[in-house]
Amino acid sequence: MEKPLVLYALCGSQRKASTNRRLLEALRDNAPVAVCVEICEMIGELPIFNPDREGENTPALVEEFAAKVRACDGIIVACPEYAHGLPGGLKNALDWLVSRDEVPFKPVMIAHASHRGDFALEQLTEVLKTMSFDVVNDAVLRISLLGKSEDAQASVLAESVENRRLLSALAKFCAAINRTRIWPDRSSHW
Ligand SMILES: Cc1cc2nc3c(=O)[nH]c(=O)nc-3n(C[C@H](O)[C@H](O)[C@H](O)COP(=O)(O)O)c2cc1C
Repeated sequence: MEKPLVLYALCGSQRKASTNRRLLEALRDNAPVAVCVEICEMIGELPIFNPDREGENTPALVEEFAAKVRACDGIIVACPEYAHGLPGGLKNALDWLVSRDEVPFKPVMIAHASHRGDFALEQLTEVLKTMSFDVVNDAVLRISLLGKSEDAQASVLAESVENRRLLSALAKFCAAINRTRIWPDRSSHW
């Protein structure tokens, strides 16, 4: 049996009731068994990026975060827009990865839980591309949960599972990963 695809999800909102987190949780909870979605819990704990603390001075938590990024097959990012920009915590997490080698060609899927926030989405795409992520454009998932009660959010998400919108975006992302995936143990299959 093939190894499951491991997707590491970065949520740009630290709110307990974050709608972007709800969207990531829906992806995690409805993913097929061959796809494992893990939501990063470190973003709010990372120190402020400082180039003086790179290399041998890199904080342990940053190394832990970078190791997760290295080990996964793809990244999912979901974030709110703050003042027409990216949330600082998410940008900080991404900044720690800029000069390292985990990111280049790493597939990334953008998810967004609002009908607003186009400035942030545009900036996020630009930042990810500048960092040499492989942004999978046809896997963008936008489902608006903004301003909805918890119950209404749950029913919008259930509907998106029912009508396969959620899983179709995930399937497109996984297909894109599989097209480019390098199998470290490929020789053992032949
Ligand atoms: C400090 C702050 C600034 C915000 N700025 C914007 C903004 O510029 N444009 C926008 O559409 N929404 C803005 N919002 C609203 C959030 O983007 C929106 O509520 C988002 O869906 C919250 O995501 P979350 O539920 O994952 O926390 C702002 C919210 C906060 C707290």
